[in-house]
Amino acid sequence: MLFGSLAGCAPDMRCVKALQLTLAVVKPDAVAHPLILEALHQKILQNFLIVRKKDLMWRTEESERFYAEHAGRFFYQRLVEFMSSGPMRAYVLAREDAITHWRGMMGPTKVFRARFTAPDSLRGQYGLTDTRNTTHGSDSVQSAKREIAFFFPEFNADEWMLREEPRFRLGLTEYNEERQIHTLQDM
Ligand code: RTP
Ligand code: MG
Repeated sequence: MLFGSLAGCAPDMRCVKALQLTLAVVKPDAVAHPLILEALHQKILQNFLIVRKKDLMWRTEESERFYAEHAGRFFYQRLVEFMSSGPMRAYVLAREDAITHWRGMMGPTKVFRARFTAPDSLRGQYGLTDTRNTTHGSDSVQSAKREIAFFFPEFNADEWMLREEPRFRLGLTEYNEERQIHTLQDM
């Protein structure tokens, strides 16, 4: 199946700006509900090209390492335990301004703020608490690079930008239903 339409691209699928990569994570609270997980996947598909996807579960050490910047904050222990409490799903997503777009789709971190100020956002719709808030997204180019490498050590983002981004940008992709990612069309 060819990718339908991507915001920022012309109807013939040619995008003007280079695609940007971001890391998106569906947290354990959302993965625990198959219907919510599927709804999130469909929303992602409507908005991004899916470059990589992985289902995984963290040990406590990985959770502590990923959130080291929050060590010492009152929610740190709660967050670390929650993020290693069950399966997660991670994505490498591509589009123009992917980082900002995914953060906009997620909505505010705090669930009550999300419900009142961004009720249609993912956290506004599905968030349970300030910790169990459905999704994670990188907040800068630098953190996207670090976080993609954390979840997908086998993925070389620089190499992807060099070799695959130009063809992804031209829309020369197809959605692989089985792998649930976009791949380049055969030349
Ligand atoms: P994230 O990193 O997960 O995308 O979320 P964020 O940038 O919107 O929020 P950040 O300040 O980086 O916090 C990271 C995660 O910590 C949890 N948190 N819990 N008051 C609390 O209990 C609290 N505050 C933050 C959330 O899961 C948040 O996503
Ligand atoms: Mg953050």
